[in-house]
Amino acid sequence: MNKIGIIGNPLSHTLSPDLHNSAIRHFGLDLSFEKWELEKTELKRFFLNAKNNNIIGGCITVPHKENVLNYFDIYDDSVKRIEAANWFKIEDDKICGFNTDYIGFEKSIPDSRLNHLSELNCVVFGSGGSAKAVVEALFLKNAKNICIINRTFKKAEEIANKYIRSGITSLNLSSTDSVNNEIKNADLIINTTSVGMSSGPDPDGNLLKDFELKMDVTGIDLVYSPKKTLFLKKISEFGGQAINGIDMLIYQAQAGFEILTGKNCPFEIMKSVLKLD
Ligand code: ATR
Repeated sequence: MNKIGIIGNPLSHTLSPDLHNSAIRHFGLDLSFEKWELEKTELKRFFLNAKNNNIIGGCITVPHKENVLNYFDIYDDSVKRIEAANWFKIEDDKICGFNTDYIGFEKSIPDSRLNHLSELNCVVFGSGGSAKAVVEALFLKNAKNICIINRTFKKAEEIANKYIRSGITSLNLSSTDSVNNEIKNADLIINTTSVGMSSGPDPDGNLLKDFELKMDVTGIDLVYSPKKTLFLKKISEFGGQAINGIDMLIYQAQAGFEILTGKNCPFEIMKSVLKLD
């Protein structure tokens, strides 16, 4: 039987098996879904042996969205632009990388914000593979004012530099006064870091903790466990619209599953199987 699965580490809390098994059942496909919890040093061997192990593709999550780029033969345009991948497909002995995170993120932005991105001040926390996809989605949707804030400033600067003519800026998370200035004027704030994630390294953290927010701010936290993070609670305290990462997770999965199987699984089928706390 052919296999698909997820590459990441840790994978103890991943919802991807539930999502994709629901799609496999929905279409009655002869496929199994596996979890591949791998260290960075194990990726090379995994990809070398993938075809012999009947693997036809899969999704990629933290911390490997950039690490996997070394092992692809073909890069979809989305991966060339974003420089990170969250899906791969093996066809004719070739491994091809794709990025559907930017599609998932765009679909999770409420229309009231999506249709006015060019007028909004946007802040993105983080500079890993997820942040790169979020910035690309905002850029493609014409956002004009994006500030990327990261603990490791160099990584934020590198992403901003890719969009040099578009006025995307970057800040060091520790530059508190400048960060405060961005946050208090922000209309849309996105957390792409693992801060606040129940299985992550800083489950009780909240990057907005010390800041005042605009009253009608929209906050999107890519974290979905817990369902309402401290980041989102703070957004709600200021009367803002708080959105977790569940919809993005499903939309990126839907797009990836279609790349692998040619089947477009309905959003509600995938959502209905999720057991959320
Ligand atoms: P992903 O592929 O999901 O983006 P990643 O590449 O591991 O995951 O990136 C995680 C992001 O969360 C990084 O921007 C990381 O900051 P650094 O670049 O400084 O490592 C950020 N992050 C993780 N833990 C953090 C913490 N405790 N405080 C602030 N930022 C944190």
